[in-house]
Amino acid sequence: MRNICVVGTGYVGLTTGVCFADLGNTVRCVEINAEKLDMLRNGKSPIYEPGLEELQERNMRAGRLIFTDDYAEGLADAELIFITVGTPMGDDGAADLSYVEAAARSIGQNLKHEAIIIDKSTVPVGTGDMVFGIIGEHAQPGMNFAVVSNPEFLREGSALSDFFNPDRIVLGSTDQKAAEKVAELHAPLGAPIIITDLRTAEMIKYASNAFLATRISFINEIAQICERLGADVREVARGMGADKRIGPHFLDAGVGYGGSCFPKDVLALHHMAASAGCHPQLLQAVMDINQSARDRFVEKVRILLGELNGTCVGVLGLSFKPNTDDIREAPSIDIIRALQAQGVRIKAYDPVSMENAGELMPEVTFCATAYDVAKEADALLLITEWNEFKQLNWEKIQSFMRRPIVIDGRNLYDPDEMTARGFTYWGVGRGVQHTHASEPSDPVSV
Ligand code: UDX
Repeated sequence: MRNICVVGTGYVGLTTGVCFADLGNTVRCVEINAEKLDMLRNGKSPIYEPGLEELQERNMRAGRLIFTDDYAEGLADAELIFITVGTPMGDDGAADLSYVEAAARSIGQNLKHEAIIIDKSTVPVGTGDMVFGIIGEHAQPGMNFAVVSNPEFLREGSALSDFFNPDRIVLGSTDQKAAEKVAELHAPLGAPIIITDLRTAEMIKYASNAFLATRISFINEIAQICERLGADVREVARGMGADKRIGPHFLDAGVGYGGSCFPKDVLALHHMAASAGCHPQLLQAVMDINQSARDRFVEKVRILLGELNGTCVGVLGLSFKPNTDDIREAPSIDIIRALQAQGVRIKAYDPVSMENAGELMPEVTFCATAYDVAKEADALLLITEWNEFKQLNWEKIQSFMRRPIVIDGRNLYDPDEMTARGFTYWGVGRGVQHTHASEPSDPVSV
């Protein structure tokens, strides 16, 4: 059993604190936002993550998980201190480290005993050295401490499963003993542990996310080519993925990646590279292709609807992926705004993220069900592949719509089935299926 302090209770911090408590450790989480702290202390999770609130409540009841806004209380007897505060995108694309700096300063000021500080936030290469310097500057003279980089690889919507079943634990430090102590903390997870230096561990995180984003932009570029040449990108991905060197994951073509990580991390890595005098052409292309996946989707709406001004379009799914309420950098935002700019009225439904979306898109008509979205719609756009959209009652949908047009941003539906039902259906990388002679007959021509 270890005494742990977690500073910052966002997606990463709260998951980290709750899960280490569930492994039997005593965890004190420091949260300075009063509203969030109040929710946490009442056993409520400020974030939507399947299973997290139940685990949080159980460990609070067991006395292993405590929330405070007081650093002295949080750090009291903590031998391991996680920094899990946000590193949002700065104006110039560099990661904004102000929250990390503030956390390091407060830790230094309140550190009363030897401890290991663990950077779990995604931080630019070299941040561990900066954290070490800040703590040293504010801690009592002679205070013994070490800094370890321990990047997280949690996906929103599956954070608990990813925490308890990691592919690997990455640790970086100049202090081998400190790294080994953090390795012991992770031992119950039974995953391979890679111990390296601080900068390399920080780079592993960025390189991993940038590579996953690259796979997505790669398959989206292949999808565009498939559309022109009449191939099916889903089958292409299946054929590629059977190669052990490629693997089947992260080859789903669609409207591109969003979220609080890929967009921010690819841009931050690009910024780091450019600042170091490199020319990150591939990273630039990954970002450009991701943006064009959204633009291309809007273009499909224009092609199939013809005149957009005055039309009504239904949107299914707003969050950047299923099983989360997070709409940060979600493709739905760019797509909806581009259509509204051309005079389209938008109706939308999402199982959990409409409250967040409402703050960003007040002029959208939010509906209670997918069927309400379909009413009077000239086209229906599938943007987030929530489970509840997989088996809709298409007869009912078609009876509500003005025009039977479905544009599928995640290849959720079967083109043959949709056309057999009388829809004009357009997926991603699968050509245009249609049932009316007047529509575009040749994918190449559209
Ligand atoms: C990602 C990384 O996967 C995780 O390891 C890291 O710690 C944080 O960033 P997350 O952003 O939560 O996790 O979700 P992820 O499942 O990776 O999806 C990211 C985006 O890529 C979503 O918008 C998703 O729709 C999109 N995506 C994913 C695709 O478009 N195609 C794919 O094949 C996979």
